[in-house]
Amino acid sequence: MNILFLGDIVGNSGYQAVKKFLPSIIKSKKINFVIVNGENAAKEGVGITENIVDELLSCGVDVITTGNHVWDQKETYEFIKKQKRLLRPYNLTGDVPGHGFGIYVSTRGYKIGVLNLMGNVFMKKCDDVFMKSKKFIDENKLKKNYDFLIVDFHGEITSEKMAIGHVFDGNATFVVGTHTHVPTNDGRILKKGTAYLTDAGMCGDYDSVIGMNAENSINRFFKRSSLKHFPAKGEASLCGAIIQANPKNGLASDISQFIFGGQLQKDK
Ligand SMILES: [Fe+2]
Repeated sequence: MNILFLGDIVGNSGYQAVKKFLPSIIKSKKINFVIVNGENAAKEGVGITENIVDELLSCGVDVITTGNHVWDQKETYEFIKKQKRLLRPYNLTGDVPGHGFGIYVSTRGYKIGVLNLMGNVFMKKCDDVFMKSKKFIDENKLKKNYDFLIVDFHGEITSEKMAIGHVFDGNATFVVGTHTHVPTNDGRILKKGTAYLTDAGMCGDYDSVIGMNAENSINRFFKRSSLKHFPAKGEASLCGAIIQANPKNGLASDISQFIFGGQLQKDK
């Protein structure tokens, strides 16, 4: 059972590249289930629209996760109520629409749980992610509630991500970080069988500042520009990981980093 996870899609560059290349990647890598983080997929580089969700689902994506920018396109607050394949962070505070966890059936008939968490450090205020995670693990079990569990941990700092990886070790198939837009090279299988990667990286133009136009971003750092950030428009790299998941125990038997196209492609 091969599961592909792609990190934050940034702007039109990332969105168009996913649409263009995902169908052939699914075939060539024999992928059975696809999860993408889509919280920056709108053309402004923040939020996601209903049309983009529909297009991503029709080109092979099974579930879309998000994070701190989930509500940045106003329409999302409404359409997420009827779109079960779009998740918002599970530990958002208060009474908010949508879900942070769902169970989906793969083409091979397996039940795949997807949990979308958000970190507490340097992020928008949300409920304690460690307490929420512990409760979730107490109430949900691999091979009982679902065959596999994929956790997208949307967070800023590496220590918090790695700690959550250990908290879920043995209770999830894969814990993957998102949000920093920079892929880390520490993909591995933890002691109790959960695959872990600190950050998947983004699907976007790396000739940029985390996907945004570099010149404008630099000017903002120098306080020479009051222009809002806007996405870079060059060729995107698609970044994430492919997990080989074992149906017998729901754990991971292999993890390989996935980097395709654009500036980060290694073997052209
Ligand atoms: Fe984010």
